Amino acid sequence: MAARGPFGSGLLGSRFFWNLLASYAALLLVTGVLVGWQVQSRLEASLLRELEETLRRDCEMLAPLASEALRGDVPASLAAELERLSRATGLRTTFVAADGRVALDSSEDARAMDDHSSRPEIVQARAETFGGARRRSHTVGLDMLYVARRLNEGDSEGDSEGERVLGFVRVALPVSQIEGQLASARRSVVLGTGAGVLLALVLGLVLSQHFVRPIAAMKRTAQDLLAGRYDSRVRVTRRDELGLLGETLNALGAETTRRIAALSQEDAQLRAVLAGMIEGVVAVDEADRVAFMNQAARVLLQVAESAPEGMALWKLAPIRELEGLLGRARTSGAPERSEVELFRGGKELVFQAHASPFQGGGKAGFVLVLHDITELRRLERVRRDFVANVSHELKTPLTSIQGFVETLLSGALEDKQNNVRFLRTIEANVKRLTSLVTDLLSLARIESGALEVESAVVDWRDVLEQVLRLREPALLAKELILEVRGREKPVRVRGDREAMTQVLDNLIDNAVQYTPRLGRVVVSLASRDGQGSIAIADTGIGIPSADLDRIFERFYRVDKARSRAAGGTGLGLSIVKNLVLRMQGEVTVSSVEGRGSTFTVLLPLG
Ligand SMILES: Nc1ncnc2c1ncn2[C@@H]1O[C@H](COP(=O)(O)OP(=O)(O)OP(=O)(O)O)[C@@H](O)[C@H]1O
Ligand SMILES: [Mg+2]
Repeated sequence: MAARGPFGSGLLGSRFFWNLLASYAALLLVTGVLVGWQVQSRLEASLLRELEETLRRDCEMLAPLASEALRGDVPASLAAELERLSRATGLRTTFVAADGRVALDSSEDARAMDDHSSRPEIVQARAETFGGARRRSHTVGLDMLYVARRLNEGDSEGDSEGERVLGFVRVALPVSQIEGQLASARRSVVLGTGAGVLLALVLGLVLSQHFVRPIAAMKRTAQDLLAGRYDSRVRVTRRDELGLLGETLNALGAETTRRIAALSQEDAQLRAVLAGMIEGVVAVDEADRVAFMNQAARVLLQVAESAPEGMALWKLAPIRELEGLLGRARTSGAPERSEVELFRGGKELVFQAHASPFQGGGKAGFVLVLHDITELRRLERVRRDFVANVSHELKTPLTSIQGFVETLLSGALEDKQNNVRFLRTIEANVKRLTSLVTDLLSLARIESGALEVESAVVDWRDVLEQVLRLREPALLAKELILEVRGREKPVRVRGDREAMTQVLDNLIDNAVQYTPRLGRVVVSLASRDGQGSIAIADTGIGIPSADLDRIFERFYRVDKARSRAAGGTGLGLSIVKNLVLRMQGEVTVSSVEGRGSTFTVLLPLG
């Protein structure tokens, strides 16, 4: 903030003010000096003229006396009288004869004085009646003003032309007499001029603030606008060009504020849109420096929130494919795309990157749009695997059936020892195909949502009894010990009875299948926290932890050969998972390889 002087805020700090004042003062000074000098010289001239006039009158006065004196002898009393007069008034009187001889002088002895005919005032008076001169007197040694008058013979008035010159009367005064007057006149001129200049300066100061103050205010507002304080305004109090300038400045401020508000609104909208996008968006400038990066892009490229914008993209996310893509887009000047595959923490990440050029502020940059297609790729692979798996699962029994049918047709039908065995194998394979197709169909129905799932209250114990009755022969065959816990109290859960049966049947079937002879299967029922739970634990072969994540996938089997030999297709757990999810439940597994596994199903209590 500039200093606040007595003439308004910032006035003394304004260079314009001082410039204005300096030029004004210089002008005043020059005018003052010129006027003063003019006045002074005129005054001096008029004083001299006045003095000369007085001296002329004195000459006129003394003329009769002088004529008389020059004609006859000068009486001693006259000389004494003139001398007294001279002493009293400083007026020196000289009577000069026509031949230049001094007849009488009030200050000196006339006899000792030289010929005066060549004195300028005498020369002039001889020609023009009156003569005047200002010079230093040889006789008295002072600067003197002389006036001489010609006196003519015969005429006591002494002014008739053409007559013989009788002589001259000359009076003189030392100039020092008027010097005092001149000095005082000079003093008053200097004082008057000085006072005038000073007054004008003060007036100028007051007046200049009238001009400088609005300019200083406008300067401040302009600086405010430049510094981004767009609400700064000038107070307009005048109607001249300065007022107009102030109004224009205010309009400029208002317009700037409006435009910036509109721009920032647009910017906020754009940022909100970009932030809300699932696609990652990165804008880079002509040198690949990041100008903008949305949240999705940060996640995809693993760029920390704190990473500063303005850094080169290859520093923030060193991905060669992206660099290559930008390079290609830069050379072609057209949009380019590429697919980027990365491994992040052992997981694959696939995204599609589009680079499109944009022009902004005269510079060419690129917008990169990154689209995560990892899930898409995974689903594609699952579908491909599924088709391959189904084909494979179908082909195996079909090949077997075809082989046995051909064998029977080529004579084995008559082979009483083997024909039934062959037919039994064909039957087993057909059964396997049937069960496979049934599983696939039911899985497809569950997944598509076509399967109606009831929401009834079912006592889980009833379902368990039914399943165990069915699986009893298998348990006995493998001499497995079965233990059921928590069957004293009913566990009423909500869901579809048929689906529950299928779930338990699959889980107990697995427990039996993957537990060697003389093992143990424990089924525990419980209800807590609004949920019923059933856990099927076995002391079987267990599941390697690497496979735990995937065993609920279709066709996923830890040991394909073993499972297939046991007649498994790898669809059981997938069906279990889908059914439980349809009943708003949850299924989990925990297992230690070589020790056993526990599958737990949770369903909402009815
Ligand atoms: N209780 C268990 N103990 C050990 N491994 C198991 C157990 N239950 C399932 N598995 C593993 O999970 C895989 C998938 O099981 P799932 O029930 O889906 O298929 P499956 O038993 O092979 O065939 P099916 O479709 O006839 O049930 C099995 O192949 C097996 O490797
Ligand atoms: Mg199974």
